[in-house]
Amino acid sequence: MLTDVGQALAWGRAALAGASGTEPLDAQVLLGAVLGLDRASLLAHPKHPLHPDQCAGFQAHIQQRKAGTPVAYLTGTHPFYDRDFAVTPSVLIPRPETEHLVEAVLHWAGEKQAAGKHHLSVADIGTGSGIIAVILAAHLPHAGVWAVDVSMDALGVARHNVARYDLADRVRLLHGHLLQPLLASGQMVDVIAANLPYIAPEELATLVVAQHEPRLALDGGADGLALIRELLRDVPRVLRPGGLVALEIGAGQAAAVTDLAAHALLGAQISIKADYAGHERVVCIASRSKLNGAHHLD
Ligand SMILES: C[S@@+](CC[C@H](N)C(=O)[O-])C[C@H]1O[C@@H](n2cnc3c(N)ncnc32)[C@H](O)[C@@H]1O
Repeated sequence: MLTDVGQALAWGRAALAGASGTEPLDAQVLLGAVLGLDRASLLAHPKHPLHPDQCAGFQAHIQQRKAGTPVAYLTGTHPFYDRDFAVTPSVLIPRPETEHLVEAVLHWAGEKQAAGKHHLSVADIGTGSGIIAVILAAHLPHAGVWAVDVSMDALGVARHNVARYDLADRVRLLHGHLLQPLLASGQMVDVIAANLPYIAPEELATLVVAQHEPRLALDGGADGLALIRELLRDVPRVLRPGGLVALEIGAGQAAAVTDLAAHALLGAQISIKADYAGHERVVCIASRSKLNGAHHLD
């Protein structure tokens, strides 16, 4: 029986030895979640007592972590950009790389606002937990956001996160395949942001994440680009002239996605943003405005 915080952390670290590579942190985060305390409080109060139920809850978390369950699925929460998000095993755990996509959109929107365009409409395709939709709505107070996912379970998590940040009046959740819900309603948007599944099946088979996170969130079809290819094909029917498409991509996909985008939106300005590790991570496709002689393909 573990009776205080110090004992529990020491036991958790030892029990996880060799399991995660981040044993001390995992033990702190999991104990903090059980006790409702942050890590600093745990470390400052090693003699804080543990109730037997708390001890049992912590030990169960450690056993699940040892079996490979990600910490975020055990705590039910994960940070992204400037806030925390609820997560469940129905959604991808937010990745820091996706912050580059959000920043690219906010940068573009900032330039539009400086030019006097404030009321942007934004689509987040494959919204998952809703991180992109929520961050963009929170930082663009005049924007209307459409968040689409094919998974009803993911939309349930997104709904929770949208409500948590009081954004339900500006973030609308739509169930469906890629741009279909927008095409069906004739809704045009200024921005399409998408972190779609982009991993090819043979790579997926080698990834540890695939054992715990939803395949639907990872599997990008034959060459990893099936969904991105289909999305780009339909973009000209949904994106307003002068709009932006921002896509998260995987390693080695930048050239192929640039090529697809150049064919889908003639004359678009295409740029690639690297992540902190130097990998090409986000493709930004700025379509031409009407004034510049837009040429949208059908
Ligand atoms: C890589 S996850 C991204 C989730 C979230 N946007 C993020 O960045 O953490 C991809 C998401 O796309 C959704 N998805 C997969 N296929 C889809 C499709 N055909 N249409 C719409 N969403 C789809 C998955 O359910 C999943 O939530």
